Amino acid sequence: MIGSREPAGDPAARPAGTEPLFRERVLVDLTVNGRRWRGEVPARRTLLAFLRDDLGLTGTKLGCDTGNCGACSVLVDGQLVYSCLVLAASCDGRRVETIEGLSRGDALHPIQQAFLDLDAYQCGFCTPGQIMAVKALLDRNPRPTREEVVTAVSGNLCRCGAYPRIVAAALRAAELMSGEGRPDAGGSSGDGAGKGGNR
Ligand code: FES
Ligand code: FES
Repeated sequence: MIGSREPAGDPAARPAGTEPLFRERVLVDLTVNGRRWRGEVPARRTLLAFLRDDLGLTGTKLGCDTGNCGACSVLVDGQLVYSCLVLAASCDGRRVETIEGLSRGDALHPIQQAFLDLDAYQCGFCTPGQIMAVKALLDRNPRPTREEVVTAVSGNLCRCGAYPRIVAAALRAAELMSGEGRPDAGGSSGDGAGKGGNR
């Protein structure tokens, strides 16, 4: 991956020993939402562009494209990343999870269900990234505090200001995933957020 920026050109026209180190296309073998994908990608293609343009997984959103908004958040080997800052080529051998991989048929993932139940969105543009950030948190910390949730989603901007409901939904999801909550049970995680004027 690391090397000269010189384009590959016609290999036959190059003197021996001056072949560029940089390859225009790179073979990758990765898993996306449990399905293996093997093929060549442009060396400069971001994971975000690969997911959206090559695989058609448009649930992952293109916001700033500069690592500032979190709309493009996905998991790579369980770690939350901004996919606009990650090269697809660097995901060779890795496991990628996107918002499309959460539901099982018509059954929403508990985090998705909690966001739906608590109206934890307005325009919805940031929602896939917010949900992936919450998933990354709950996968390693199944019963987070409110402060831990706030920290976990702090890299995901919501221009609609739905933060109180997003935090409440994350806490509700933790209840659902631990078997303590039900989608129609008022729950203890509302902390007033469900009464706010975020919609
Ligand atoms: S689109 Fe990646 S951080 Fe904004
Ligand atoms: S719901 Fe609109 S940006 Fe978050």
